[in-house]
Amino acid sequence: MVVQVLGEADRRKSDASDDALFYAAPRFVQHLDGGFRSRLTNLYRQRLPAGAQLLDLMTSWVSHLPEEISYQSVIGHGLNAAELQANPRLDRFWVQNLNQDQTLPLESASVDAALITAGWQYLQQPEAIAAELLRILRPGGQLVVAFSNRMFAQKAPKIWLEGSDQDHLRVVARVLMAQGWPQPELVAESTRSAGPLGWLGGQGDPFFAVIATKPIAWQDY
Ligand SMILES: C[S@@+](CC[C@H](N)C(=O)[O-])C[C@H]1O[C@@H](n2cnc3c(N)ncnc32)[C@H](O)[C@@H]1O
Repeated sequence: MVVQVLGEADRRKSDASDDALFYAAPRFVQHLDGGFRSRLTNLYRQRLPAGAQLLDLMTSWVSHLPEEISYQSVIGHGLNAAELQANPRLDRFWVQNLNQDQTLPLESASVDAALITAGWQYLQQPEAIAAELLRILRPGGQLVVAFSNRMFAQKAPKIWLEGSDQDHLRVVARVLMAQGWPQPELVAESTRSAGPLGWLGGQGDPFFAVIATKPIAWQDY
């Protein structure tokens, strides 16, 4: 059963048209700067075991995974097939608008780690996605939800658009815990710009992550 945390008003976004239209043309750009990306890749290097079965949900042409590590396979999901096709880390992918249909087409307890980078901020039904992620992860499996302080504002639901960085961490944690996830770890860090600017103290995109682990003894009902 999905436990609702957000109210109807929290879910509204200023551009209410089908998200598939917004993502119809591929964007072969980096949505996050080098400082953020290298922090995220390091976190993956530390937390995701080699050989794991991964799901990169709400992805694009880049997955930010460490190049030197091999995984059993990486399943990708997004809204633009051309971007997903160009992502060298994906073994397979599917396209699905998660604001229209929250059921993930994956077996229960079939994935070791699920990743969402700069994506949660566009979810209008995050509770149902959090419940699905709990279903498809194996016991002991990890969820890493990473984001910075930028977004496509017209596509972000009100709760995200109007919240502070700390509010974002808190609301992701609340939504997860309402579905039965244990208390997640919250990460909030500044980053250094990549290259010479960083050596001079230049700041990169701030790094935030919510990291949750599915209980070993989890029973699906
Ligand atoms: C800012 S991009 C981030 C892409 C990638 N994770 C990265 O790190 O560069 C946001 C992504 O969220 C996904 N997305 C946004 N709205 C969505 C929706 N309604 N349903 C499914 N995916 C969506 C798209 O795949 C889009 O590429």
